[in-house]
Amino acid sequence: METVKSCLEEKTKLLKDNSITTPRLEARLLLAKAVNKDLNWTYLNLEKRISKKKLSKYKILIEKKLKKFPTAYLLGYKEFYSMNFKVNKNTLIPRPETEIIIDEIKKNFQNKKKFSVLDLGTGTGCILLSILREFRNARGIGIDKNLETIKMANTNSKKNNLLKRAKFITSDWNQKNFFKKILNVNKKFNGHEKFDLVVSNPPYLLKNEMKKLIPEVTYEPKESLYDNEDGLSFYKRVLPEINSILSKNSYSYFEINPKSLKNIEKICKNNNFYNCQYIEDLSGKKRFVLIKN
Ligand SMILES: C[S@@+](CC[C@H](N)C(=O)[O-])C[C@H]1O[C@@H](n2cnc3c(N)ncnc32)[C@H](O)[C@@H]1O
Repeated sequence: METVKSCLEEKTKLLKDNSITTPRLEARLLLAKAVNKDLNWTYLNLEKRISKKKLSKYKILIEKKLKKFPTAYLLGYKEFYSMNFKVNKNTLIPRPETEIIIDEIKKNFQNKKKFSVLDLGTGTGCILLSILREFRNARGIGIDKNLETIKMANTNSKKNNLLKRAKFITSDWNQKNFFKKILNVNKKFNGHEKFDLVVSNPPYLLKNEMKKLIPEVTYEPKESLYDNEDGLSFYKRVLPEINSILSKNSYSYFEINPKSLKNIEKICKNNNFYNCQYIEDLSGKKRFVLIKN
């Protein structure tokens, strides 16, 4: 029978030989998943034997990893802003660069008493739920056109004890009456129509970027990554209408494709937003546009 140590050694080598990055960590994470323990267990139980059943489960996970299946999908979760979010093939895997949006919001909302948030294209709900966890006085609505992601966002809301302050609904921002509808939803949920904070990480990849995706990303839902147009359709659709759903002194933070910066600046100006700020990610790329109302 194989032990934790021998399994880890063998699979680490296999992953490494197949150019999987951080092979030792991957081997550990997947072993922990196969034996239904946490990562720590794999460090503390090197001589433990692994049953045949668990070993075959481990082998299946490793085979998927060799095909570059994303680890978050194999584990069924991803950490975002120190919270644990369930993920599946219907949801984009939350990205570390998106976490910056929460830090930025914290700078501007620290002294706000009560406020309401709208998250457009909520996916796992990671942005909205992280904001609600940071601000006990906030309530928010997350929308997504994909019903399966809305189910996952609700699961994550329940898991993190935020059901009372978060509402997730299926809706498409391209619908004709979208903005009117969302104001009505907010009125029922929050008692007032307009939002103090609107956030989004919309699909923004370019057509040529879609052709060069790294293998792991090809497993993620296409409509999370690409709008089937020029990667700008969200901004073109939302910016002309955004004032109608914003309260006075509100903030909008939208993640952007650094490669589309010039076009985003143009869309902002065309909609009379002359004082937009651009926030950099950790690699120094302009990753968010901030619009103050
Ligand atoms: C880049 S993902 C972001 C997910 C999540 N907010 C995050 O940061 O991890 C974009 C999300 O927008 C949703 N989406 C795409 N087009 C949409 C539309 N027209 N209306 C509503 N949601 C849309 C996708 O289903 C996807 O969940």
